[in-house]
Amino acid sequence: MISITMIFSQARRVLIASVSTLLLSTVIMTNVNAADTATTYSNSCAACHDSGALNAIKKGDSAKWQQLIKQKSMPTLINSVKSGMVQMPAGGLCDACSDDDYRKLIEYMSK
Ligand code: HEC
Repeated sequence: MISITMIFSQARRVLIASVSTLLLSTVIMTNVNAADTATTYSNSCAACHDSGALNAIKKGDSAKWQQLIKQKSMPTLINSVKSGMVQMPAGGLCDACSDDDYRKLIEYMSK
């Protein structure tokens, strides 16, 4: 016969298992996101923003990036990338990037 205590201990075990899975996946997802930004940067933006090719502002030139973010605001910069500029192709060579991805990439370059 199944006792009430057994059901409770079973339920507690299931609960603990789900909470640990949830915590674990949160940790993994956070890491994947950070890695994704670096990878996307390397695959798309780095071609110009690493070397400053075509006069693109270099990654890590914090002073210039911070000034630009203050001057134009983040949503404007995201739109610049999406629609392209004089030399920068529309999308900055990342077709799959969302607005949020572009924001993360710009923040990544500004550090
Ligand atoms: C083919 C070269 C090239 C690639 C690839 C590229 N950029 Fe650019 N980017 C430029 C250049 C050059 C400028 C300066 C404006 C111009 O002349 O087009 C610029 C300017 C910018 C600006 C400033 C926009 C403004 O309004 O002043 C942002 C933000 C930016 N790039 C983000 C990105 C991001 C994010 C990526 C990757 C997803 C990327 N760029 C990929 C060349 C590039």
